Amino acid sequence: MADKKHILCIGAGYVGGPTMAMIAAKCPDYTVTVADINEERIAAWNSDTLPIYEPGLDALVKQCRGKNLFFTADAISAIRDAYIIFVSVNTPTKRFGTGAGKAANLQYWERCARIIAENADGPRIVVEKSTLPVRAAEMIHKILQANSNGFEFHVLSNPEFLAEGTAIKDLENPDRVLIGSMRTPDGHEAMQTLVDIYARWVPREKILTTNVWSSEMSKLIANAMLAQRISSMNSVSALCERTGADVREVSRAVGMDSRIGAKFLRPGVGFGGSCFKKDILNLVYLCETYNLPEVAAYWEQVVKMNEYQERRFAERIVRSMFNTISGKNITMFGFAFKADTGDTRESPAIYIAKMLLEENANLTIYDPKALENAKKDLDGYENVRFCNDPYEAAKDAHAVAVVTEWQEFAEYDYRKIFSLMAKPAFIFDGRNILDHNALFELGFEVYPLGCQELTHLK
Ligand code: UDX
Ligand code: ADP
Repeated sequence: MADKKHILCIGAGYVGGPTMAMIAAKCPDYTVTVADINEERIAAWNSDTLPIYEPGLDALVKQCRGKNLFFTADAISAIRDAYIIFVSVNTPTKRFGTGAGKAANLQYWERCARIIAENADGPRIVVEKSTLPVRAAEMIHKILQANSNGFEFHVLSNPEFLAEGTAIKDLENPDRVLIGSMRTPDGHEAMQTLVDIYARWVPREKILTTNVWSSEMSKLIANAMLAQRISSMNSVSALCERTGADVREVSRAVGMDSRIGAKFLRPGVGFGGSCFKKDILNLVYLCETYNLPEVAAYWEQVVKMNEYQERRFAERIVRSMFNTISGKNITMFGFAFKADTGDTRESPAIYIAKMLLEENANLTIYDPKALENAKKDLDGYENVRFCNDPYEAAKDAHAVAVVTEWQEFAEYDYRKIFSLMAKPAFIFDGRNILDHNALFELGFEVYPLGCQELTHLK
């Protein structure tokens, strides 16, 4: 018989790992098991070097691991023991067949559903934690029931809103927890079980309960709207560079309107991360499926604007450096898709690096946490080296391009960096985190994003 106070999470990734560590810490009377088919990943979760970098995660895992938090490659035993099963496996964009390039590939999810159904020896609550396109829970419920040994499965949707780099803070103090359930007495009971878990540390008024479709849809729309704000500001940055307005001033002035709000208006080299692009493309596919081409085109433009912004940044580098970077040394500060993470999934850095390499530049990449992933992303490319020291990386560079907003980039000794670089020394600040006037005074050719350059070359 499964233990009602045993939680299993299938998928020990960026979402599953931190979320389960938080639940284990907040619910010491529950046993929490996290399972993954990737044995190497499980070994890392059981070691001193966790597979993902996330501020505050090490301490949380150390506090609970071996007590009520366990990592295993054996999902099947855990399915027998646990009554509540979260599924947090990857749902990448489909690369083949119908919906290729847009729809979600649900094969990993479906495989999990079948394994759960085949191995559960009684009813279970199955919680959808990965972002799934709307109406996926219905499909999952059907697979579970069709394969079950006569037991009832209750499918809940409980999307995760944590952002990487702030995952622990977001989990500890979420804006809201969303739980979608079927509108049946059993569905309601399952929902209440999950509400009670979160209510251990989240104020009840922040726990929203909806129907399953609204919950799934809310996750897609939240990500699409966040990304839309960034694309809007990035489009404005292009206009500012032409007109002499400064996008930072525009962003500040616009964000002070309380109806708009200041967050997610930071222009940059483009948004990355595993969610935004994937979720918007899911949304686009959904609109196309329901024959809403205008709605699909509206959201697709958010992704197109992002690709334009990445391209624009690389093109500005080439144009400013006398229209050629062939044989020149360019140093990228940052490769992660944002600060405080080693994750490079969909990082604008990947596209920018490839564009610069296609222009025959010699690239040097420095990132405090993402170098190992960067090596994988640029596997097979020549003329690229990876460097553990920012000053060493800047030596003999014709240009430095800031691609990730790591705080440490703002704290370097730029007098020293200037002295190490070839002249004229260009600096392209794709995240606007540096002191541009101070750099100009030091002698740099400074290219902030979304405003005109500061140059000695006129
Ligand atoms: C996002 C959502 O925020 C989170 O709720 C969801 O669960 C998963 O997707 P994440 O991708 O981890 O989280 O990071 P986020 O902070 O949203 O940043 C995404 C990208 O947007 C990064 O590349 C970041 O640099 C960029 N960004 C963010 C900007 O360019 N400007 C901004 O103002 C904010
Ligand atoms: P996210 O950012 O959504 O957490 P990740 O890719 O970091 O995504 O994590 C998803 C995890 O799910 C991976 O570690 C992958 O090995 C795991 N996974 C995928 N399919 C299965 C499966 N059938 N059983 C167990 N784990 C799985």
